[in-house]
Amino acid sequence: MAIPRETVEQILQAAHIEEVVGEFVTLKKRGSNLWGNCPFHNEKTPSFSVNPARNIFKCFGCGKAGDSAKFLMEHEHFSYPEALRYLAKKYNIKIEEREQTAEEIMQQSIREKMFNINEFANKYFVDTLWNTDEGKTIGLQYFRERGYLNPIIEKFQLGYSPAKWDAFTTYAKQNGYSDELLEQIGLSLKGNKGLYDRYHGRVMFPIHNLTGRVIGFGGRILVNDPEKKSPKYQNSPESEIYDKKQTLYGIYFAKNAIARQDECILVEGYFDVLRMHQIGIENVVASSGTSLTMEQIRLVKRYTKNITMLYDGDSAGIHAALRGTDMILGEGMNVRIVVLPPEHDPDTFGKDFSVEYVSNYLKENAKDFIRFKTELLLKDAENDPIKRGQVIRDIVETISVIPDSIFRITYVKECSRLLDMPEQTLTNELNKILRAKLKKTLGIEDNVVVPVPETNATTQNQDETVEDQLPAGYYQERELVKLLLMYGKEMIVDERINESGERILEQVSVAQFIIDDLKNDGFVFTNAVNQKIFNIFDHAIDEGIIPDDSFFVSNEDETIAERAADLLSSPYKLDQWEKYGIFVKQEQDVLKATVLSSIYRYKDLIIEARRKAVEEELKTAADPDDQLILLKRKKDLDDIRMQINKELGIVIAK
Ligand code: GTP
Ligand code: MN
Repeated sequence: MAIPRETVEQILQAAHIEEVVGEFVTLKKRGSNLWGNCPFHNEKTPSFSVNPARNIFKCFGCGKAGDSAKFLMEHEHFSYPEALRYLAKKYNIKIEEREQTAEEIMQQSIREKMFNINEFANKYFVDTLWNTDEGKTIGLQYFRERGYLNPIIEKFQLGYSPAKWDAFTTYAKQNGYSDELLEQIGLSLKGNKGLYDRYHGRVMFPIHNLTGRVIGFGGRILVNDPEKKSPKYQNSPESEIYDKKQTLYGIYFAKNAIARQDECILVEGYFDVLRMHQIGIENVVASSGTSLTMEQIRLVKRYTKNITMLYDGDSAGIHAALRGTDMILGEGMNVRIVVLPPEHDPDTFGKDFSVEYVSNYLKENAKDFIRFKTELLLKDAENDPIKRGQVIRDIVETISVIPDSIFRITYVKECSRLLDMPEQTLTNELNKILRAKLKKTLGIEDNVVVPVPETNATTQNQDETVEDQLPAGYYQERELVKLLLMYGKEMIVDERINESGERILEQVSVAQFIIDDLKNDGFVFTNAVNQKIFNIFDHAIDEGIIPDDSFFVSNEDETIAERAADLLSSPYKLDQWEKYGIFVKQEQDVLKATVLSSIYRYKDLIIEARRKAVEEELKTAADPDDQLILLKRKKDLDDIRMQINKELGIVIAK
């Protein structure tokens, strides 16, 4: 159900960040903030700060930041509505649910019905396994023979579906479930003589979502059927509540262990998950035989950035491990691979060896993915120079998806050694790919005028990478957004000349001052999120109200909320202007001087970049008319710079 907007605001205002966080983290007061050890990464000295005045938290170690709801989403893995409900309960705020549209009610009730019937079916299968003769002698016996003990069978709610063709379907219909629903959710199939059980004669694995509700099933056949008349596993079809690409088997039981151990072990099958849990390794989920999807990777990323893939020792297993890994790397996550001894899968491996042996094996054999891939491909290519060339391109392509430049450089070094290739050759290849990508991203993501990224790129020396190619004025742009967020409402004295040439003094807000100034001169932020914040202020000023920082840190647009929390968390040094040679006569000039110098530095860098671009163009312009236009443009830009500097009483040191 939907929570009305006003209630959301009421909840977020009532929530005191230090109280919310305080339930999970021990905090100590130091200065105006509270500090503790970050619950999101391992650390010995506290870098996790809580700012009660702004009602936000930020970890200066791992960078996580946000408001109370964000904290709960990160820490308790709540969804946004779950976090709000938690806070509402804590602060005794009653949630009046908004009335839903007819369509929402329909949708809601279909989903609710599906959850209900799955729960009903799950109970039936579990009950059949434990309490019927057939269940005990066939189903339970099967699990026993494979070495599974009661606690794990109970925890994962394993079940048994009777061999009789329509045992479950008949029972469900007797209990009022419609044919239509049974078919939609996939528990029953339509045959010549009516509906029959999809899973008859199989042991049952319920598939849970993050909150522990059953969204589908997998059923395993009991005899190995060499003629393959029926498949080894029958799985639920997708439905309104079961999206296969968003699901990982076992995530509900593994999520806490994954977060706690900051690592997720990925296996292929249901039984692999069961086995690992049974021997006490609980940070394990299965992709269920399909190759990994982006959604599954993001699901894991909510809990950890480290994935270890555990695969069978056969070559199919190894090649399965290669799939999906570029996607993981591209998310900025770390991937390691463990290949099991031949003939083993995680299930048999965990069965045949002691827990200690298994844990040690995992520790000692986990190989960094890129190193794994390089070695594997090299073995395939051996002495074939053409194949070797392909391997190198393949590896560099993989390295190029890693977002962090430091990691990329590390991998280039390592691969240069493994491939016996000069580092520079690999770096050149890598930069070629990165540059092509940068152009593409800048074109797509920020479709505002970017101050000459190309110039930046081509004048770079070969060793430099994308992070060094930040758009001109990147930091200054952030600084201006920070000033807007922190001091947007404060008033400063603006001094300007009116139409009749008189000097007039006027009180304006910092927000208005910055917005007007940049808009008048036609500056547009490069970064889309910064520009969104800018636009919000722009509209707000027109309406005559300036939103305060809580509006931004609790913004429904997550990119805005995150940026705001990030920028608001580090204190602003109001004395920075001194470095730029601005003399401040009185205390209240400090803010204005800061604002002015920030605007100045920003504009100066942007103009400088534009001027450089014009200079570049001049070098290649052949047509004298073009040259003239460019020269004029260059002069205009110089004039603007002069003007900016004059206004601030600073002389350009050139
Ligand atoms: P056991 O063979 O009993 O040990 O099961 P397993 O879970 O180890 O299965 P396996 O390693 O053969 O396959 C891995 C996963 O792929 C399984 O857990 C299933 O999710 C999926 N899978 C395997 N066989 C089939 C099949 O015949 N049909 C479908 N739809 N999925 C399958
Ligand atoms: Mn298996």
